[in-house]
Amino acid sequence: MNKVIAMSSLQIKNATKAYGTVEVLNDINLDINSGEFVVFVGPSGCGKSTLLRMISGLEDITAGEMRLDDRVINDIDPAKRGIAMVFQSYALYPHLTVFENMAFSLTMARAPMAERKQKVERAAEILRLTHLLDRRPAQLSGGQKQRVAIGRAIVRQPKIFLFDEPLSNLDAELRVQMRAELIELHSRLRATMIYVTHDQVEAMTLADKIVVLNGGKIQQVGRPLDLYDDPDNKFVAGFIGTPTMNFLSGQVTDVAHDHIIVAGLGGDPKIPPLPIPFTGFDPSIRNIELGIRPEHATIASEPSTAAGLPARVTLVEELGDLTSVHTVLANGERLVAQNHGRRHQGTVETSVHIATDKALVFDTSGKRLRPAST
Ligand SMILES: Nc1ncnc2c1ncn2[C@@H]1O[C@H](COP(=O)(O)OP(=O)(O)O)[C@@H](O)[C@H]1O
Ligand SMILES: [Mg+2]
Repeated sequence: MNKVIAMSSLQIKNATKAYGTVEVLNDINLDINSGEFVVFVGPSGCGKSTLLRMISGLEDITAGEMRLDDRVINDIDPAKRGIAMVFQSYALYPHLTVFENMAFSLTMARAPMAERKQKVERAAEILRLTHLLDRRPAQLSGGQKQRVAIGRAIVRQPKIFLFDEPLSNLDAELRVQMRAELIELHSRLRATMIYVTHDQVEAMTLADKIVVLNGGKIQQVGRPLDLYDDPDNKFVAGFIGTPTMNFLSGQVTDVAHDHIIVAGLGGDPKIPPLPIPFTGFDPSIRNIELGIRPEHATIASEPSTAAGLPARVTLVEELGDLTSVHTVLANGERLVAQNHGRRHQGTVETSVHIATDKALVFDTSGKRLRPAST
């Protein structure tokens, strides 16, 4: 079988980026393995596109080092890096056909027609564009245009594919379909791909490895479910997962070897302190926040019966298989419970039960406090 795409690895060491005195990326360290699908995710303005453009060479690096297959590429011209980028705006040439758009880099390189035809037809087949090769971009749907833009990248046989929010212009249904196509494309090509999005669901579904960015800094790097289950800090815990994780403030009043006693949860003085499993807690810490996923909170079906935190229901969202109940606790903190089924009775005053064995503990700076491994 002829190899369509070369695979490459990328190392970024202590990279920073500043515009004048404004630093937009701070001490970025990252290893991307050959053949990996890596997603950069974070809120708007966190530096995702800037980092991608630094990899492509469209932006220079203020300090630090970037290596592609063990070769320093800091000063290599973008066109010579062998990296192809796909943008949110498809950036197709409107007067050229699909074939001509996809063949563009080969035409520029004066490749023979037979080679152009062979490479474009192969990419068109992978992307199911064969029947559209004679059309112009205006005669294509948004999803088809984006496939042509991806096809143009495949034809270049790049060492690395870069995608900057390529699906953001598509409607929700098409985005889901294109996501599945990208996963299939990656498993066929086995190419190294770096994909930028602000959408954590896209990150969770596409990535082998997620890089969470915020404020120009890497917050955590890991496999999707590792970030979900074992976040390093409150930012990652709150950013990954929907509905977002609940955070309840409390005070540690007692520390035992395998649990802590936490008072003040929900702010109702009548509620006794709650034991939370935790091995090896630092006894000098008093104020904490508990992180509780919505699926680890349940609403009592009768008003304030079972032991739980008193809560007032503010909104019920029925999704069919799931019900999300939004509540406010006695101290004004908000908590969302999301459970399977449709059992919620619609009571306004109720109580919430939290699965204490699933609770994560954070200090007041937002750092995750991990139990000692037993
Ligand atoms: N050419 C530029 N000059 C000055 N600041 C810039 C420039 N490009 C981007 N920035 C700033 O860098 C930060 C990161 O931008 P960007 O990488 O586009 O974020 P993202 O893609 O995560 O939304 C933003 O605060 C943005 O305003
Ligand atoms: Mg961007």
